[in-house]
Amino acid sequence: MMKELALHVLDIAENSVRGEASHIGITITEDRRNNRFAMEIDDDGKGISPEILNTIKDPFTTTRTMRKVGLGIPFLDDTCRLCNGHLDLKSTVGLGTRLSAEMEYDHIDRPPLGDMAATLMVLMSSHPDIAFTYRHIVDDVEFSEPSEFEISSGDLEDILDGVPLTTPKVYKWVKTYLEENIRQCETGGTGA
Ligand SMILES: Nc1ncnc2c1ncn2[C@@H]1O[C@H](COP(=O)(O)OP(=O)(O)O)[C@@H](O)[C@H]1O
Ligand SMILES: [Mg+2]
Repeated sequence: MMKELALHVLDIAENSVRGEASHIGITITEDRRNNRFAMEIDDDGKGISPEILNTIKDPFTTTRTMRKVGLGIPFLDDTCRLCNGHLDLKSTVGLGTRLSAEMEYDHIDRPPLGDMAATLMVLMSSHPDIAFTYRHIVDDVEFSEPSEFEISSGDLEDILDGVPLTTPKVYKWVKTYLEENIRQCETGGTGA
């Protein structure tokens, strides 16, 4: 079993990479007030043909040649349904794809989000030519207002001023920066 939802995000975003996206948006919404957890991954890639889209929740649907069966989307779909939620996939050939996965926030079977900072670091450092945007929104009865953290590859490039993300010191600094901002968002901090 995949233990963390962050690993599903990595897996789904890699679909977008293979789909030749130049921009990939990732949004995590922890709506604790309404007991909903949502993950959305959208891209401007080549899209999915209606034939593939019709059977995509079937574990034998794949256009990959490296592995015999596709597990990514069907597996996430199972997890969503197990947690009283659903997976929705919209795609237009030539325009892009949007996947949204929703679950009950406090469902006993909902895996923890896990290490989103690690997922983002893997994606951004292995695909420097793709523009990523990450948004994380958390609402909780204890918060006076929803907290939100947003960061894009472009924001990071500005901060790093030309130093590549793969430089070890920079990598470590950015990872910590993401971890701290996500933690602050999850605990109701207003951010930097
Ligand atoms: N964002 C996307 N852009 C283009 N094609 C996609 C995208 N997501 C999924 N697909 C198509 O759907 C198929 C099934 O995806 P998935 O269930 O993740 O299995 P796998 O990636 O192992 O093939 C992929 O092989 C690909 O053809
Ligand atoms: Mg996949």
